[in-house]
Formats: sequence, structure tokens, C-alpha cells
Amino acid sequence: MSAHDYLGEGFSYRQDVLFCEDVELARVAASAGTPCYVYSRHGILSRYRAYDEAFGGTPHQVCYAVKANSNLSILKLLAGAGSSFDIVSGGELFRVLKAGGDPAKIVFSGVGKTAAEIEEALAAGIGCFNCESETELALIDACASRLGKRARCALRVNPDIDAKTHPYISTGLKDNKFGIGIGEVEDVYRRALNLRHVTMAGVSCHIGSQMLDPAPIGEAADRILALTARLRSLGAPIEHLDFGGGLGIPYRESDRTPPIAATIGDLCRRAAPFGLELHVEPGRSITGSAGVLLTRVLNRKKTEAKEFVVIDAAMNDLLRPALYKAHHEIAPLRRLPAMGYVEADVVGPVCESADYIAKNRRLANVMPGDLLAVCSAGAYGFVMSSNYNSRPRAAEVLVEGDHFRTIRARETYEDLIRGE
Ligand code: LLP
Repeated sequence: MSAHDYLGEGFSYRQDVLFCEDVELARVAASAGTPCYVYSRHGILSRYRAYDEAFGGTPHQVCYAVKANSNLSILKLLAGAGSSFDIVSGGELFRVLKAGGDPAKIVFSGVGKTAAEIEEALAAGIGCFNCESETELALIDACASRLGKRARCALRVNPDIDAKTHPYISTGLKDNKFGIGIGEVEDVYRRALNLRHVTMAGVSCHIGSQMLDPAPIGEAADRILALTARLRSLGAPIEHLDFGGGLGIPYRESDRTPPIAATIGDLCRRAAPFGLELHVEPGRSITGSAGVLLTRVLNRKKTEAKEFVVIDAAMNDLLRPALYKAHHEIAPLRRLPAMGYVEADVVGPVCESADYIAKNRRLANVMPGDLLAVCSAGAYGFVMSSNYNSRPRAAEVLVEGDHFRTIRARETYEDLIRGE
């Protein structure tokens, strides 16, 4: 990526006007309305390909983590490029199958799979279950027995490593709910070999998300590889290792992120002596930088203490600032030097003080009616949105070259009451 990484992959200013690929974003706002998520097709595909190519000759699967952005058109795009998928629910399975994803290239992660979800996955013929506990293995074995099938399984290991990220998105520490403690895995793996409807195929781990420091990734890999050596010495079959997702993206101009090629190259080198197929489960680093949330300024408001820019996007549209105090850059669609700057809180219309997109932010001195792009919102944006305050969920638009199309219609009031 370039000097303006934080604008995202596929987004750039041309003569002070913000574009996504060859489409002026103001055109999208005029046609689809705001708030609206806009994604760059090129941005998503180039990140996927960066992963795929980084493996070189190593047998591998890039399992896109569907939870990051599960829009059908985006899943179709990735399926067409050859992607595998990491799912965490029956709903995500349904989406991947609808999008034409190859069931054999689906891995099912998650700490609370229900019997119904497991049976749906078995019936579809998914590639692998990443099992989070011995009791879950027993459940999968029972489900497979009921359906007269065998389930391919990997054990998700908790390597007890600090991913050095936000505590809510750290998953590899021993007091996190995820995975089987690295000290217990050998025993569980050995016992699993006796299950009649389970084929043990590998080991998986995922230590956290938005990692900016590559060191914990390497450390986790070394622990998993040492474990693999111990398992092999017990005669346990292992076909693949799954290193999870977690690579960070630049949310701020100053963020330096681990490059995909170098990080994957390093994993391949460490694992080379084992001759295994390698899997990764990236989500954010594929779709995150390739999307923005378009929003319009509704109002400017000044109190004794503060200046507020009130916009038409809110915490129900983009929850990350309220939930994690996450930082997203905010770029004006027209960057006029005469505008000047304002220091303000950028807030939505929802009735909560946590409803903000930015706090104490220096941004272009925008006026009511002006358009803004909230950057790096392509992952964990729309998927975490809700109807809170009875706000219909935003539209989603995909840009390809000089074309764009709506890939999810803005919800209507009727959508709000469906099912009530
Ligand atoms: N694999 C597993 C088992 C995971 O739990 C996750 C993310 C991923 C892969 C994908 O991780 P990524 O490459 O996207 O970092 N809502 C939070 C992020 C939660 C991530 C949960 N697990 C956020 O907005 O920052």
C-alpha cells in the first residue's frame, strides 16, 4: 500500500476529490444515499491474492473469515478467486453455500457449535471442524454417527500467547474461552484417534485480531510446530496446520502493519521441515481496508465544552468506536484547502453518549450537507450493525473500475417490523 494507507486499498484523492477505484464517491452517495458502505472489488481481490501468492509452492488454503464481511457478493468474489472460508455459524455456512463456495474448502471454527449446526455442516460436506474442546469432539462424533458420516477435525490449540492487541479481540491467552490448553492437547488428540466417526487432520490456532506486531504470530507458530513434532512422535497423523487470522490493517496514518508476503513467507519457512498443508483465516486484512462508510453531515453543534459534528451514521452502523474505542480516519469527499479544520466529536443520532465515530478529532471543517468517508470500515462494519433506535441498516455498494452496484439494499421500515 502507499503513503495514504489509512484511506484504504482502492481509495484515493484525485484533485482533492475522493474516489473509490474510478468512481467519485459523491456519485455513489447521490445514487445509493447515506449512510452507505462502499467496497473496492480490486482492493478485496488484491489482498486475497497477496495471501494466495505469498505461499509460493507450499500447499495451502486461504480461508477467508466470513465474520469480517459476509455480504453474498463479496463471498462470491472470493469464491471465484479460489478462496476457502472460515465460518463460525450455520448462518455463515448458509451464506457461503449460497455464494457458490466449495463446501470441501470450508472450516468451521467457534466455541459453541450446536448439534444442528454440526449436522448441517456434515450434510454439506465441509472440509474440517476446528474443535474447541473434547466435549465438542464427542458431540461431532455423535452427530457424524447419526448421519453415517466421518468428520474431519483439527484441534484448536490455545498457545497462551499475548497477541498484544485490544483485550476484547485477544483470543490466545489461557484465560480466554478459546481452544484447548497447549498442555492438554496431546492427550485429547490421542483420545480423539479412537473416535469412530472423526478423522483427526490437524491443529489450528488463532491468537487475536488487529495484530500490528508480527512477533506473537511467530511465537505461536513455533509453539504449534513444537506440539506438532510431539504429536508426530506419538504416531498421530497430522495433515495440516491452521495459523488463524489476525493480521492488522492501518487505521491511522502512523500504523505500520505486518506485510502479508513477509508474514506468510516466515510461517512457510518455519513450517517447511514438517511438509504440511498450511491454512490461514484472514478476515480484516482482506476486506477491512477495502471499504469505507459514507455519511453525510446533518448538523454542527457547539456547547460550552465542545464542538460536535452530527452525521447520519451512528453506532448502530459502525459499532467499533463505541465497543473498542477504535480509531477510524474520517476523510472529506471534497478536500478544499479553504475549508480549514475543526476539532470536534463526530457523533451519530442515536440516544447514547457512546454513539460516536470519533472523539476530539481534528478534521476538515465540514458543514451540514457535506459528505465524509469513515475509512477502513470494510471489516467488522456492516456485519456488526444493528437496528438500534429502529434505524434501517445501511446500503452496501461494490465498486469495480468505473462502475458500481448496490450489493445490499438499504433496509426499509417494513424490513424493521418483519417477523414481529
Ligand atoms: N479465525 C478465528 C477463529 C477468529 O476468531 C477470527 C476473528 C478470525 C479468524 C479472523 O480474524 P481477523 O483476520 O479478521 O483479525 N469485531 C472485532 C474483531 C473480532 C475478531 C474475532 N475473531 C473488531 O471489530 O475489531
